[in-house]
Amino acid sequence: MPDPRPTPIPASIDRSSVPHHVAVVMDGNGRWAQRRGLARTEGHGAGEVALLDTTYGALAIGVRALTVYAFSTENWRRPIDEVRFLMNFNQSLLQRRQHELHDEGVRITFSGRRDWRVPKKVLRRMDEAAELTRGNKLMTLNIAFNYGGRAEIVDAVQRLVADAVPVKQIDEKAIRSRLYHPEIPDPDLVIRTSGEYRISNFLLWEMAYSELVFTEVLWPDFRREHLFDAVEEYQRRERRFGGLDK
Ligand code: IPE
Ligand code: IPE
Ligand code: MG
Repeated sequence: MPDPRPTPIPASIDRSSVPHHVAVVMDGNGRWAQRRGLARTEGHGAGEVALLDTTYGALAIGVRALTVYAFSTENWRRPIDEVRFLMNFNQSLLQRRQHELHDEGVRITFSGRRDWRVPKKVLRRMDEAAELTRGNKLMTLNIAFNYGGRAEIVDAVQRLVADAVPVKQIDEKAIRSRLYHPEIPDPDLVIRTSGEYRISNFLLWEMAYSELVFTEVLWPDFRREHLFDAVEEYQRRERRFGGLDK
């Protein structure tokens, strides 16, 4: 089980330039299970420890926001049994973990569409976790659920139109302020596990200038040490934002 206590932080991490916002594509659960002769769903279950351990590792080094990709708008294409499992699993994970996350000062938020496909029970549990933890300040754990980067931009455009924003006033700020969580700064670091080198419709608007780190580790095997490695890799990068100075 993950250890919520303060963890020794590698001296090689520069505490003055820890990424403010880290986002993770938690991939490889199915392959992790298949390699063990287990059902794919066992891999999703095993991802829970990885999520908690990564969250505690992020807290320990002072990351202020951690966005995790839990279910994409494209994941509905999976077999109905797997989709059903993921719905139940995510709501039961929230039920089991919301109190300990609350005790650790974590604010839980969600990015994604609350459409008819998400069972009411799941939506209720999401609201409950968000409500319980809304006043917490140490770190935001933002769960991307029924999330798609394109859907998020479409939803923002719909809001622009609903708000009757004049054409001349449509700029990046107007769009950004209508994304799901405009108060969370863009991710500095995006990590994808399982040796896949793609974005898969994650945070399309927000990751314009994120540093990307890919690892072969399958999500159920991912632990805070892997997060620390990714942060070190991030700290070796030179961010330019289109200019020439650091
Ligand atoms: C990521 O693991 C979890 C979700 C997409 C919900 P996968 O289920 O995609 O695992 P692989 O990529 O098939 O191994
Ligand atoms: C991205 O992983 C979505 C989540 C991790 C929730 P996928 O496994 O769905 O992505 P693809 O299909 O390999 O691009
Ligand atoms: Mg996958």
